[in-house]
Amino acid sequence: MDRVTRMFRSALLAMAGNRVAESIASRCGLKLGAGRFVAGETMEQALDQARKLNEKGIMATLDHLGEGIRDLTEAQRYKEEVLRLLDGIEASGVDANVSIKPTQMGLALNEEAGYAHIREIVSKAKTLRNFVRLDMENSPYTSATIETVRRLRAEGLSNTGTVIQAYLRRSEWDLRRITAEKMNVRLVKGAYKEPGAIAYPDMKDVDDSFKRLISARLRSGVYTAVATHDERMIEWTKFCASGFDVSPSSFEFQMLYGIRTPLQERLAREGFRIRCYVPYGRMWYPYFVRRLAERPANLLFITKSIFKR
Ligand code: FDA
Repeated sequence: MDRVTRMFRSALLAMAGNRVAESIASRCGLKLGAGRFVAGETMEQALDQARKLNEKGIMATLDHLGEGIRDLTEAQRYKEEVLRLLDGIEASGVDANVSIKPTQMGLALNEEAGYAHIREIVSKAKTLRNFVRLDMENSPYTSATIETVRRLRAEGLSNTGTVIQAYLRRSEWDLRRITAEKMNVRLVKGAYKEPGAIAYPDMKDVDDSFKRLISARLRSGVYTAVATHDERMIEWTKFCASGFDVSPSSFEFQMLYGIRTPLQERLAREGFRIRCYVPYGRMWYPYFVRRLAERPANLLFITKSIFKR
């Protein structure tokens, strides 16, 4: 990544946490091109998109957007929405699980209260034979997120897992422990702004780390989700899977809603398990800005869509 792109990315990621920009954006509804990456503002719209994906052989993971909450009443409201979502998935019969953000459940405000909310969700999902993924946020929450999943599993709630980010220097160590515990993991490159002391600043190092994580995990045979749109990483995953004789049922690819859709459909046609991450809700702004930061060309797309109106 060149210096200008890095600066641009860093500026956008700083904007993802800007409250004023967020409140202006959320008043615009899903305009500004965010509709390309967000399925809608309501659960019904998200379930509808999940159904359409299922028709193409693509599973879904649904995420009710929201992060950086300010009090536990908000966390309570988000928890209720996810419980409603689990019922919605069950009632509609779509092939989907859910992804949640630990801080959205209050983990950053009060660890015990956050844990209780997450536990209630995972517990309900268990009775519905569903699965809950704890997304990985920025580095202050890495250990707490992994520990939360560990604690849930120790309580018999094994229908949960988390995410390991290749850009973090600690990830290989984390993955070794998590794999020994047979915890379900999603591997990603990493989407937040992190200091060089703890994260690789160079994309080449991130890619190398991602490849090491993928091969270590596939070799272990523990169920893994490889979440990327990078065809080199997808080819690497296929290469490792065939080299280690891994059954296609013990891993899945994951991609984000609205990104590289033809590639998602192609993997489904090739017989791979593929799941699309479908975000919905009114608090779409930080998620949207992180997607812009990942690819500067997206800004051009957004600018064009605004002027087309
Ligand atoms: P890379 O960024 O190199 O992209 C490869 C190619 O994909 C690009 O050249 C472009 O063609 C396309 N592409 C990628 N991003 C695009 C975009 N925004 N718009 C348009 N095209 C794009 N991160 C995290 O920190 N915690 C988490 O919990 C998760 N969860 C998660 C779930 C799922 C299902 C996915 C796919 C990703 C995440 N991520 C995440 C985000 C992840 O860390 C990473 O930022 C993005 O996936 C982009 O990295 P790629 O591996 O796609 O490669």
